[in-house]
Amino acid sequence: MKNAVLVTGACKNTGVDIVKQFASKSQNVVFTGRNADSVKKAEKAYKQEFPDVSIIGYTIDSLINETTVDEKSVEELFYDLDKKDIFVKTLVLNAADQGLGIKAFKNPLTDFMKVINTNMAWNYCLCEHAAKRMKEKGGGSIVFINSNTAYRAIPDRIAYSASKSGQLGMMRAMALDLGKYNIRVNAVLPGMIKTDRWEKNPEFYKDVPSRFTPIGDVAVGSDVADAVWYFAEHARNTTGAELVVDGGNTIQLYPIIK
Ligand SMILES: NC(=O)c1ccc[n+]([C@@H]2O[C@H](COP(=O)([O-])OP(=O)(O)OC[C@H]3O[C@@H](n4cnc5c(N)ncnc54)[C@H](OP(=O)(O)O)[C@@H]3O)[C@@H](O)[C@H]2O)c1
Repeated sequence: MKNAVLVTGACKNTGVDIVKQFASKSQNVVFTGRNADSVKKAEKAYKQEFPDVSIIGYTIDSLINETTVDEKSVEELFYDLDKKDIFVKTLVLNAADQGLGIKAFKNPLTDFMKVINTNMAWNYCLCEHAAKRMKEKGGGSIVFINSNTAYRAIPDRIAYSASKSGQLGMMRAMALDLGKYNIRVNAVLPGMIKTDRWEKNPEFYKDVPSRFTPIGDVAVGSDVADAVWYFAEHARNTTGAELVVDGGNTIQLYPIIK
């Protein structure tokens, strides 16, 4: 039996850094993406960079349609891992519907539901299948990649903020219910992360690091991956906890006026 980390949404951006963090520490990796070509490409690149660990990509989407979570594909993913004798000892719930452009009371309800279903119900489903196996094998670790928008709102992201706040409630409830099985459940709360969206909108992001964070810089994917690694591998007595990785953005009240 091989132990592995399962990282969702790991063909681009932060998920890639999380995969690399675990693979570089000789851990086997399973990851997901929605597009078969992207999954294939990412798997090939990971395998080239980390030839000594097992890395397998799966193509799955969270939803069958706007309102229905694709439970079956999660079930199939875990059955396939069972067949390959791979045990998901760490589950990292990184994939998220960003809910971009959903304005309060302007969009159809299905737009709102889509985000809630992906960021909460689909993750719940992944946790269910992972936790069942962790319980049988004596424990494991679940890490949600949450967001500081769970606490502080940003414009036109009502569904996203709601989903991330709800995710924290779910994380705490799971930590409570699963503690007795030695399954720890925690959340990393990044602020802004430098992703491809950052590079595409330099004007928008120009003043953000220096004016809105005490540290004066935003996170890169590896900062988030470091926090995930801490929860997964070091935090033996920590569950139901939140680790904020936002350069201090959450504790700052006003933008710094130069
Ligand atoms: N970027 C930030 O500034 C920021 C700030 C705070 C928190 N976060 C959180 O950090 C995590 C990573 O952020 P990121 O910006 O790196 O993410 P991202 O690039 O927006 O997306 C991450 C992954 O989520 C997958 N995904 C999106 N919708 C999905 C769906 N319906 N079903 C299955 N997978 C889906 C995408 O898959 P495909 O590759 O198939 O598109 C993508 O690989 C997220 O949980 C995000 O909420 C990000």
